[in-house]
Amino acid sequence: MRKLFVENLQVRGSRVLVRVDFNVPLGKNGEITDDRRIQESLRTIEWLSRNGARTVLMSHWAPSKKKEDPKPSLKLVAERLSQLLRKDVRLAPACTGPEVKRMLQGLGDGDVMLLENLRLGPEEEKNDPRFAAELAELAEIYVNDAFGSAHRAHASTEGVTHHLRQRAAGFLMKKELDYLGSALESPKRPFVAIIGGAKISSKIDVIGALLKKVDTLIIGGGMAFTFFKAMGREVGKSLLEGDKVDVARKILEGGKTGSQARILLPIDCIAADRYDNDAERLVVDSGKIPVDRQCLDIGPATIELFSRTIREAKTVVWNGPMGVFEFPNFARGTFAVAQALVDCTKLGGITIVGGGDSASAMAEAGLESQVSHVSTGGGASLEFLEGKKLPGVEALSDA
Ligand code: 3PG
Repeated sequence: MRKLFVENLQVRGSRVLVRVDFNVPLGKNGEITDDRRIQESLRTIEWLSRNGARTVLMSHWAPSKKKEDPKPSLKLVAERLSQLLRKDVRLAPACTGPEVKRMLQGLGDGDVMLLENLRLGPEEEKNDPRFAAELAELAEIYVNDAFGSAHRAHASTEGVTHHLRQRAAGFLMKKELDYLGSALESPKRPFVAIIGGAKISSKIDVIGALLKKVDTLIIGGGMAFTFFKAMGREVGKSLLEGDKVDVARKILEGGKTGSQARILLPIDCIAADRYDNDAERLVVDSGKIPVDRQCLDIGPATIELFSRTIREAKTVVWNGPMGVFEFPNFARGTFAVAQALVDCTKLGGITIVGGGDSASAMAEAGLESQVSHVSTGGGASLEFLEGKKLPGVEALSDA
């Protein structure tokens, strides 16, 4: 990583503004269901405290996907963070303003406070210059440890950085960039990527970018059926993006990317009579999907083929499930890929799981700690793998 790193800063007695990504999921009863993002930020916060910084944390929290839903206070997050740090983390009533400044006055060396949810108002997402300048006034040094938000050019990830001279990556940011960066820049070969998920439309760019880098690209999940359609096959009632069939054809022909990489598609599937966990299941050859069935998982021969390919790799990147893994009866393919990554790791391979659904599958399988790296960024890791520059990373000082 060629960006300034927090460990190279002198922070004693200085106020350090740290962007973290505490955008954690909330359960039905209003509880935090997965605190991995908070846990993963501890290393940076603890290092700053130990070295006498006066740390001001900031994060957004938008657990509901609906734009119109009100954003929650970070109170629960502050409590969880205090427990994990075994240290009192005071929550400010706002992000800027006189009360925040008053709290700052009381902050001693090694202390940690948290600003209120950055997205309570519209300024953060609009990258409002005034809001960014007010955030910058709170500190002398800026640290970004929010890899999960690094694809956003928001006030706390981009605007604020125009006002602060030292802008460093935290430990989590560094870890993410090191793993994802070296997989793309200098992968040990064979390099295998597995791309899954429902829609080819959201993964076209990553497929195109990875095809230029990998030896083998494995394609699974709902998007496989658009590829089958492009090959002239019957896909029954399986998921299909009719307007992406041409794109799929070009990818298969290598015409879009000019790539020589091998593409592996499922050779068999689990066909269901309806979209339901309890649907009747039938193993079918992927060239012979019955017209009245929909495929919801990869089949046993595909599991064998994909697993063997993954085990033999030296670098693996995985993004997107192989089937409807939310239904336990159709989760076998996704969990088998998770297990193959673990096997590959044990054999000395570097295995990286992009965030989002594949990270959830890894956690559900209880295998998170047995691969090289599980990214905390869904959209961010996807954009990184697409080869895009992330505004939150670009804004950091060079090393
Ligand atoms: C995420 O959860 O992917 C990040 O926290 C970014 O959140 P956003 O998609 O709401 O910007």
